[in-house]
Amino acid sequence: MTLYGVGLGPGDADLVSVRGKRVLESVDVVYSPGRLSRAVATEHVSAARLGDLDFPMTRDEDALREAWREAAEAIAPAARDGDAAFVTLGDPNVYSTFGHLRRTLDAFHPDVDVEVVPGISAMTAFATALDVEIEAGAGLALREAAGGAAPTGPDRLVLFKVTDAPETARKLDAAGYDVTFGRRLFMDAGETAVTTDPEAVADRDYYTLAYAERRGLDTSRATDAFADEAVESETVESETAESAVDGDGEPADAAADGAVPDGGSNAVEYAEAEEHGDLPGGAR
Ligand SMILES: C[S@@+](CC[C@H](N)C(=O)[O-])C[C@H]1O[C@@H](n2cnc3c(N)ncnc32)[C@H](O)[C@@H]1O
Repeated sequence: MTLYGVGLGPGDADLVSVRGKRVLESVDVVYSPGRLSRAVATEHVSAARLGDLDFPMTRDEDALREAWREAAEAIAPAARDGDAAFVTLGDPNVYSTFGHLRRTLDAFHPDVDVEVVPGISAMTAFATALDVEIEAGAGLALREAAGGAAPTGPDRLVLFKVTDAPETARKLDAAGYDVTFGRRLFMDAGETAVTTDPEAVADRDYYTLAYAERRGLDTSRATDAFADEAVESETVESETAESAVDGDGEPADAAADGAVPDGGSNAVEYAEAEEHGDLPGGAR
């Protein structure tokens, strides 16, 4: 049968995809590599269907290889006799432990079918949590930044595994980047934080990331023109209202009807877009 690698999303149980939930509800057994992923899984799976796996907290490659071999030994029969799932936070194919399991299965249990159900990765969830827009065409790189590391180069970076926020911030600031930190985004467990103050997230917490953007980036957008228009139309409205109070009824009636005085502002908008080459062919 099949082993499903299921991405659980960043941590809130209701950010698991519909397909992920369906798989979790249908498989015979669900394995998880850690406490947090297990906690999310238990929102969708009864404790009786949770499998037991033990992963050492170590960087020792021999110990890790042994642990993955043992995990594959335990999971392979379950995925041969029935369906099983292995859950990870975020997406199973983004900086994830799932890759180790899949390679170990490929090596020692190649008859096990593996299917992946994608999840919302912190790589994209950060944008909503930090209220950052990565607009079409913008470059964005994903890097690791453990132990105070501060990778630079691209204009925009998402940094995972930030364990020394003050040091990472200091180096990025010197390299010309503005930095925002996000901790435990979309997670019930622990305290969520979004801050530009590295001291606020100075204590070590594995679920911390950073978004770095090169200072002085040209972020002008076609819709920036709307901000000026909005100010202009507010001014016109307040002048109109004032003149109505002064006894000049006509313009006030027009404003109350939502009437547009003339087509001037649209004409300006189109002309500007055309000048910047922003108009799609069919929009003229
Ligand atoms: C091994 S990576 C796993 C990434 C995961 N597979 C994904 O797609 O989001 C772990 C790192 O992702 C980041 N991360 C994952 N989930 C996060 C969350 N909810 N809030 C903040 N950072 C998170 C942290 O930087 C953490 O050290």
